[in-house]
Amino acid sequence: MVIDSHLPQSINHTMLYENIREESLKLKVAADWFPKFDCTDLIGRIDFAVKCKEAARHVSTDTEYILWAEAKQQPTDIYRMLAQLIITIKADAFDRVPPKFIGCFDNEKIAFIEYHYALHIYQINDFNWTQTPSAVDDKTVETVRNAIDPNRVFTFYFDSDSLELKNFIKANFAIDGGSMLATLIDKNNFIFVYQKWQKMVMPYIAADWEKLKKNYSIYDRDFFLAELNVDDNGTPDVSDDKTVNSNFYITFDASADKPYQLKRTDNLGTEFIIPFGFKSVGIQHYTDFWKRYHRPPHNDYWNYIVERADLLVPQDVRERKGAYFTPQIWVEKSQQYIADVLGDNWQDEYYVWDCCAGTGNLLNGLTNKYNVWASTLDQQDVDVMKERIRNGANLLENHVFQFDFLNDDFSKCPQGLQDIINDPAKRRKLVIYINPPYAEAGSGQGKHKAGVATENKTFAKYKDIIGKACNEVYTQIFTRVYKEIPNCTLAAFSTLTLLTGGNFDVFRKQFLARLESLFIVPAKTFDNVKGLFPIGFFIWNTKEKVKFVNIIADVFDSDCFPLPHKNIQIEENNKTRINNWLSTFNDRNTNSIGVLMADSPDFQNNQYISILNEKGTRHGIYNSISTTNLINACVYFAVRHVIEHSWLNHNDQFSYPNDHWSADILFQTNCLIYALFHGKNRISVGSVETVCTPSQQTKQQPRFVNHWIPFTETEVDAKDRFESHFMSDFLAGKIKPTQSNEGNLFESSTPDITSAPQLQFTAESNAVLGAGRELWRYYHTMHDANPNASLYDIKEYFQGRNDKGKMNPSSEDAHYTELLDNLKSALKALGEQIKPKVYEYGFLR
Ligand SMILES: C[S@@+](CC[C@H](N)C(=O)[O-])C[C@H]1O[C@@H](n2cnc3c(N)ncnc32)[C@H](O)[C@@H]1O
Repeated sequence: MVIDSHLPQSINHTMLYENIREESLKLKVAADWFPKFDCTDLIGRIDFAVKCKEAARHVSTDTEYILWAEAKQQPTDIYRMLAQLIITIKADAFDRVPPKFIGCFDNEKIAFIEYHYALHIYQINDFNWTQTPSAVDDKTVETVRNAIDPNRVFTFYFDSDSLELKNFIKANFAIDGGSMLATLIDKNNFIFVYQKWQKMVMPYIAADWEKLKKNYSIYDRDFFLAELNVDDNGTPDVSDDKTVNSNFYITFDASADKPYQLKRTDNLGTEFIIPFGFKSVGIQHYTDFWKRYHRPPHNDYWNYIVERADLLVPQDVRERKGAYFTPQIWVEKSQQYIADVLGDNWQDEYYVWDCCAGTGNLLNGLTNKYNVWASTLDQQDVDVMKERIRNGANLLENHVFQFDFLNDDFSKCPQGLQDIINDPAKRRKLVIYINPPYAEAGSGQGKHKAGVATENKTFAKYKDIIGKACNEVYTQIFTRVYKEIPNCTLAAFSTLTLLTGGNFDVFRKQFLARLESLFIVPAKTFDNVKGLFPIGFFIWNTKEKVKFVNIIADVFDSDCFPLPHKNIQIEENNKTRINNWLSTFNDRNTNSIGVLMADSPDFQNNQYISILNEKGTRHGIYNSISTTNLINACVYFAVRHVIEHSWLNHNDQFSYPNDHWSADILFQTNCLIYALFHGKNRISVGSVETVCTPSQQTKQQPRFVNHWIPFTETEVDAKDRFESHFMSDFLAGKIKPTQSNEGNLFESSTPDITSAPQLQFTAESNAVLGAGRELWRYYHTMHDANPNASLYDIKEYFQGRNDKGKMNPSSEDAHYTELLDNLKSALKALGEQIKPKVYEYGFLR
């Protein structure tokens, strides 16, 4: 990204969009950079407009645009383009709802400026704004051009800044128009803004902090307030009511050499000024930082911030300790979401109890300590909280206490809190704000061993009514809150399992509450949490007794960038889950050619979906694969594997498909080929593990006839005849299929070449077969090759096993490695072809 100046543009950039006409350029820019948006509107003579596809979250009578832009086919000065756009807007769209940004692009670059930074230009009155844009003379364009503030213009070259451009669009063009360039500073976030400022700007101020404190009682927060009290043009407001102390204050002027001025008026009325500058590169850190926030804050907020300047204290290092501590970005976000739901004044209107407080990290940023209570299991943590209070943490000692939420009676709470819990009206104003402990009965992980989850009063009391969910500590806590503090607000972090997980069906029937809002983030951003799964921040309104059906959740990546929303929904009836479908083709009566191992219908369990010689010992679902259900089994296998498990889809549930897949022979063939060559196909004639979890033992299998060889002997130059030709016959259409309600079923019968309809092979499935054939051929050049070897056996042959009997991840045979890599990439391409069908046929919704 370039923070622009009026210097001529560099021309050393490759042109991503060379030799295309302006209309094609616009289409390409729309498709490449704004695929999630609607760029089809034409507004007067404005070349390009971007708006959200879904206006659902905005109640507005007029369309809200995110960008209006000027487009040019050839490299052009961006200020000239912007000037032309500004003139066009005046003529054609000045009465419309303004966009967030205006911008311009040509075939090498794109630039944005927030529209409000251009508005002052319309006040220039020494030329005629009513001229038609095409007739505007050069002098006018030049005047407008020179009035654009280059510091506000973000320029990206399509080729060299593509990542930055994507991030910029991701951050500022939120799908629902939500998060824009700069955050407003308000009474609920100013402490977080200050704490970030301390890390990002303060180290670059050339000030002797100790001396300032000793001689003048001046603290870093005074510098922060001085920076905050500057308007968009960098002008400080030094009016009496805006300076912290009119006799003794710091002002800030970014344009000056020494931007901070410590001003003091002595008893005789003489003003002293002590200037401070930035250390090197400090100004850049300052500029970058304040691009994220709008300042000065609204007057009401400013007054509040100054009143509560005592809260602007350095973050206590101890906040960083504590089991699974909640990162400050999510603490801040969670408080912002609570304010969105309960209102800006929620901290004064509601009471807050963090009953799993640890050392109190989650309460950082709260301003009204008289309304906040913090309790936790370990006395040590209580002691740390009290020490933190002595060091300036904004909590009351009397409101911090040891309390085992799963065992203790509420009569152990401080009287003030009891009064709230026992009063139905006050209880409605209580927010249980927690990041609860995560421990599962039997998990035996970390500090909270098995037993913690079951040996407590809450478990004993509620286990019969919330079913399997009672194995989780956090659901026990939720249940006690729900049952014993009725009508409160539960604002809590937790995994998403409780929304859609099968084990939570019974819990959901009991826990009737309106989910007001949810944002989800990667679990790995929390201390000590490993694994690819989401953690959500849920705001449950327990006053409203409704069953959870669905929610559109906000999603943030690890850097707090907004990602597209996620629709989470649950349908609870018999024909909902993919495993209900699986049970419709469990064929117990025919000869088995292998076994499909299935598991719970979500992404987190996809790793267990495999094709084995026979039923294993692991807890799972085992379906015999026969000639009659081979296609169904391969479809099940393929749809569970083609889409990679990610933190975001971890809990997504696979569903009972609609019927359309059964008429799609191409799709079925693709799934069959995918399953034949996938690494989780563990069919083997040699010795193999019976299961695919790392902890399981290797054991010798009885001899097995491999019906899964996709080729004939001649094709792969085998040294002997295969025991089974089933699969190559099947692929050649020599085995007669029959139809049933559940799709194509195949009879194992005498080959009937004439009446057998062919499977249909795409270029991608043929490429997989081709790559597989090469691998088989290479294997059969080995002097000790087993003619009946499966893919798994071939891999074992080249990769070998380690001391513990596990197959090595790679081989020293370079040619084998190359052939296997080819197979993997062909399989990936085939997977890409299957993916859209997974949604189309309703396997995923
Ligand atoms: C995930 S940590 C959250 C810590 C802190 N609130 C934060 O957000 O960073 C959960 C805390 O709950 C505490 N805890 C565990 N079991 C508890 C119980 N039965 N009653 C109260 N607190 C408990 C743990 O000691 C731990 O400090």
